[in-house]
Amino acid sequence: MKFVSTRNHNNPVSFTEAMFRGLAPDGGLYRPDSTPDLSGFFASLADDVPFNELAADLTSALLGPEISREIIENIIRDAFDFSPELREVSKGMYVLELFHGPSCAFKDFGASFLASSMNHLLSESSVKNSGSGKNGRAIIVTATSGDTGSAVARAFHGRNRIDVIILYPSGRVSPLQEKQLTTLGGNVTALEVDGSFDDCQRMAKAAFTDPALSNLPLSSANSINPGRLIPQSFYYVWAWTRMRSMAADGNFAFIVPSGNFGNITAGLYAKSWGLPVNHYIAATNANDVVPEYLKTGLYTPRPSQATCSNAMDVGDPSNFERLDDLYENSVDIFRNHIEAFTVDDKTTLNTIARVEKEHAYLCCPHTAVGWRGAELYREKNPEIPAVILSTAHPGKFVEIVEEATGRPPELPFALKELAGREKKAYPVGNRDTDLREWLLKRFS
Ligand SMILES: Cc1ncc(COP(=O)(O)O)c(C=O)c1O
Repeated sequence: MKFVSTRNHNNPVSFTEAMFRGLAPDGGLYRPDSTPDLSGFFASLADDVPFNELAADLTSALLGPEISREIIENIIRDAFDFSPELREVSKGMYVLELFHGPSCAFKDFGASFLASSMNHLLSESSVKNSGSGKNGRAIIVTATSGDTGSAVARAFHGRNRIDVIILYPSGRVSPLQEKQLTTLGGNVTALEVDGSFDDCQRMAKAAFTDPALSNLPLSSANSINPGRLIPQSFYYVWAWTRMRSMAADGNFAFIVPSGNFGNITAGLYAKSWGLPVNHYIAATNANDVVPEYLKTGLYTPRPSQATCSNAMDVGDPSNFERLDDLYENSVDIFRNHIEAFTVDDKTTLNTIARVEKEHAYLCCPHTAVGWRGAELYREKNPEIPAVILSTAHPGKFVEIVEEATGRPPELPFALKELAGREKKAYPVGNRDTDLREWLLKRFS
């Protein structure tokens, strides 16, 4: 499989090049240039295939022969010492827990695969001296609304060929997320931006096409990077291997709490490769430009609005461009593949409390948006089981969970140990030139 820009389908590049570039030179997003038919491969998977094995086989099916089987096995072994878990929380309501990785969020899947791939491929001679991997080194610039940064920080920490620069919106991430971003040190540097997540995302995007920075081996780890996106498809396939015997003919729905729409895009790619699951439901908070698009046919980005599911506060989701491209810029085709629901903050908090009370299951606010989205979907489709992607551990959102239930959640060990660590972040303004100046000072 090769990759092309969403804005120009004529210049395919290898996965390695697309991954190190992060963003296509014309400002578009890389997307697969072809739609392989993997239905035979999916059908051949065992019901209990281990996640690592599935990940290695699917990577080979997608990226072989560009990357040898031996390197793929090394990448997967280094990337995943954790796996998704699937639970039936109430009848027809399944939760796909994606928070068993090092930063307790779904982004660990994408970030770990990306870090491991870059690390392995940077030592390959073909990559060492090519455009984005100059002298065997890379600089990751990534914007975060909370979770991406912590997953990226953990995944890349200590990889000595790679520097990581994380931009986060000051005051708009939870205290724990901030600790995760700012306390690792070493090759991981946090920039505290005086602005919103959209500012951070715009600044990071601008850096990749800024001629003044063209000598730096910049790369991205945001959900726009195809090296993050592809591995996010693995757990959709894994969940299907577990669900297909429970839901006849794979007739179930994935409900995906969505902000930047990277997670659901990965699932929709898996569908395009022949994964026999037909229903993909995006659940958003008040930042509902995609649900609005589905209703009205008009895509109207707007400034993001702060909500209690803050990692989904995105007013102009980057991956809309990929989905729009996949669905031939047609809202009618788009509507055939995705449905969407919007959940407000009051309902999100009620849902956290209600699900805990009724099912003894504690959700993070993003998962609660998904849970409520699943309920709304099943009001219309009661016979279709829902698989809700649980994108973060509730312990990452202590204040919100406590507000909803009256009690703070239990913290997993990975979060507990952060308490005593000291924050180190560089404050920067919210203009593209603020980031440019900082990078030039640091790396020239
Ligand atoms: C916990 C959590 N849930 C959901 C999302 C939304 O995922 P996406 O931006 O891929 O739509 C994010 C994104 O940062 C997140 O961190």
